[in-house]
Amino acid sequence: MPARLISPLWNSLALERGGAASLQDQIVGYFRDAVLRGRLKAGARVPSSRALAAEHEVSRITAVQAYDRLVAEGYLVARPGAGLFVADSVPDHHLLPDPAPARPSRPRPAAAGRPRAALPPLPAIPPRPSEVLPLSVGIPALEQFPWADWGRLSARLHRARAPELLGYGDARGEPALRRAIADYLGPARGIACSADQILVVAGAQQGIELIARALTRPGDTAWIEEPGYPLGRVALSATGLALAPVPVDAEGLDVAAGRRVAPGARLALVTPSHQYPLGALMSLRRRLALLEWADAADGWIIEDDYDGEYRYAGRPLAPLYTLDRADRVLYLGTFSKVLAPGLRLGYLVAPRDLVERLSALKTAADRHAPRLPQAVLARFIAEGRLAAHLRRTRTLYARRRLALLDALGRAAALVARESPPAGLHLVALLAGTGDDDAISRRALADRVHAAPLSRFYAGAPQARGFVLGFAGTPETEMAPAVRRLADAIAAVGAPRRARAQRASSAR
Ligand SMILES: Cc1ncc(COP(=O)(O)O)c(C=O)c1O
Repeated sequence: MPARLISPLWNSLALERGGAASLQDQIVGYFRDAVLRGRLKAGARVPSSRALAAEHEVSRITAVQAYDRLVAEGYLVARPGAGLFVADSVPDHHLLPDPAPARPSRPRPAAAGRPRAALPPLPAIPPRPSEVLPLSVGIPALEQFPWADWGRLSARLHRARAPELLGYGDARGEPALRRAIADYLGPARGIACSADQILVVAGAQQGIELIARALTRPGDTAWIEEPGYPLGRVALSATGLALAPVPVDAEGLDVAAGRRVAPGARLALVTPSHQYPLGALMSLRRRLALLEWADAADGWIIEDDYDGEYRYAGRPLAPLYTLDRADRVLYLGTFSKVLAPGLRLGYLVAPRDLVERLSALKTAADRHAPRLPQAVLARFIAEGRLAAHLRRTRTLYARRRLALLDALGRAAALVARESPPAGLHLVALLAGTGDDDAISRRALADRVHAAPLSRFYAGAPQARGFVLGFAGTPETEMAPAVRRLADAIAAVGAPRRARAQRASSAR
């Protein structure tokens, strides 16, 4: 049977000259759409490239290249000597409904397949404003970033044009950076380790996820601090772990409560140096109990030492890692708080026998951290610049912390929660009742970022207030920012009180 020619249809091809899509793309899009919507039937012959070019006033090469693409993508087939035909490989159930003819630049229509199975839910990710605002938690003094040193070291590296830094690198991180971190951890955190125990990761965040994936199975249970780090919950859930919130008190995570709540847990995510967000320093008693649990339960401990470098009085307590005799602790550090979170560089220190497994998962995730920033950071640490930056910022943050405490002392609606002088943030509780989430949203409109404490709880919030960062907020801005937060508390509380008064006088 002679093949039908499709001239009436292809004549409806309307090309837009000078539009966003090239003529070739428009021709391809037109034929693709016509095949998928069943307007061009399997086996139909399409006009020759010469005819297409003449009819639509496009160059022959445009027509030929458009057809070549349609053949390569399987919409058309060439039969030698006979011409080009619509392929018969598009099954009926793949055909799309036929609304008005679609242009290639139109957005994809809504999914037409079978309904998807429900996906497991993930814990909520608290919103964070796109710009750094006064009182933003977890942000160091970005205006203190050592641009001059960083620029000098980067320029030196770029001048050297080392081609070896442009290829794929070691999944564990640049050897020079791992050596520099190992050397730094002794004096900075009292950790004795060697470079081959270190894996450079994309922030502590990635470290949590990698460790969980490496050492647990989906369905296992993890102890998390309650309240705790919201993105830690997301990372652990993403690996398929069930979360068991364990209360914290003035001594840190309550290990006995953990044993009661989830006796079969295999992992604990803890912040012993400065509990996040409440600030407790985990007592020696609890540290030993936690290590004992891990050893007996064949469990693992992630020690998230996110801001352990900052302590403003007394001597810092050595990390839990230094007490571990059974290789159960994986220590996590980050450059987000000591330099800048945008670097996305952190590290973990692992027992030697786990490094290979962790680096295989790092390869699976993203091969390795970007090499040039790693090389700059390695020099920055080795030259002693990080130690100098830490000394400078420690003094600065101690002052900023006092400025925040002072400002809170004058805000009747807020009570600073007692915690050791450490870290980059403080917790202020609401003096009365109130919806910290609504107040936080209101304060955001007034350019203050006061993270609501209730969002740090996995379960029902046990306290209402705010987690306030002082490190990134200049002293002069502290009191005005706290005043704006107090205004937000008054503004959100006032209508509610007025409503309550109206309701009681109506009774
Ligand atoms: C408790 C805690 N752990 C880990 C992190 C992760 O830091 P990063 O992924 O930026 O290294 C943060 C960041 O705010 C944090 O607060």
